[in-house]
Amino acid sequence: MADNMKLLLISSFLCFVVYASNGPVPVVIWHGMGDSCCNPLSMGSIKKLIEKQVTGAYVRSLEIGSSIEEITMVCSKLAADPKLQDGYNAVGFSQGGQFLRAVAQRCPSPPMLNLISVGGQHQGVFGFPHCPGGNETLCEYVRKLLNIGAYISLVQAEYWHDPLNEQEYAEKSVFLADINQERSVNATYKSNLLKLKNLVLVKFLQDTMVIPKESEWFGYYNPGQDKKLYTMFESPLYIHDKLGLKTLNDTGRITFLSSDTDHLQFTEQWFIDNIVNKFLM
Ligand SMILES: *[C@@H]1O[C@H](CO)[C@@H](O)[C@H](O)[C@H]1NC(C)=O
Ligand SMILES: *[C@@H]1O[C@H](CO)[C@@H](O)[C@H](O)[C@H]1NC(C)=O
Ligand SMILES: *[C@@H]1O[C@H](CO)[C@@H](O)[C@H](O)[C@H]1NC(C)=O
Repeated sequence: MADNMKLLLISSFLCFVVYASNGPVPVVIWHGMGDSCCNPLSMGSIKKLIEKQVTGAYVRSLEIGSSIEEITMVCSKLAADPKLQDGYNAVGFSQGGQFLRAVAQRCPSPPMLNLISVGGQHQGVFGFPHCPGGNETLCEYVRKLLNIGAYISLVQAEYWHDPLNEQEYAEKSVFLADINQERSVNATYKSNLLKLKNLVLVKFLQDTMVIPKESEWFGYYNPGQDKKLYTMFESPLYIHDKLGLKTLNDTGRITFLSSDTDHLQFTEQWFIDNIVNKFLM
């Protein structure tokens, strides 16, 4: 397990790459934890893939820190980029999914058009990579103990979501409880999110990194235990339409996609068929 943690921590950098050209809508990409903006095996190949599809694309890559204060910095950078002023599409990988959602909710200018979350943890996580819930042995022990240094302090502060202690989560989560309107409802978050043309949520059916993987579609554990799950449609967030998810769905603007693979292990063809051709062209 230590190796998995390390892998996640190898890079605490986040970055995003901006693609723009006169014709097509620019795309902002935000990669996940443990990755970097330009890793040739991950974001680097995504970048090339989009460049191949969108000829003459302008490419800009920015590295930013992993803490949530960076959202403000990202917002300023997007606002200062003249090529994005007419709007852009956003593709967030893993935690980049929920961070870009925060950008959509907090920073309406320039306008985000489509938000594509690829394996984002929209209701948080309660478990470690390769340690699914319900494991009575090491995994269960570890996730209750909460004692793995940096990984924990980062994830716990931002999107650790303990279903056994919802109250504490709502009070202490500096990021997720805020953008999910758990403490109070900020009407601006909702009106901003409702400006999206499409919210696309990709879930990895064999995901061993995100526990529970249902979080990628806004599902989560029912409070008080860590086995039974609710779907987005059954969540208080949706039912009371606190964030606009119900309105988005009722107007046909939420697309649920899945890839029958582990976390982010989609094929190039899958990405072209489901994301590039449908939402980035
Ligand atoms: C609601 O969110 C907006 C956008 O981030 C922010 O400017 C405003 O201060 C927030 N309102 C409250 C009451 O927190
Ligand atoms: C629980 O986790 C341990 C340690 O990773 C593993 O050896 C075991 O097979 C897991 N059990 C189940 C039921 O997943
Ligand atoms: C969500 O939207 C889809 C497509 O518009 C619709 O078929 C479905 O009934 C909606 N779900 C709920 C719970 O309203």
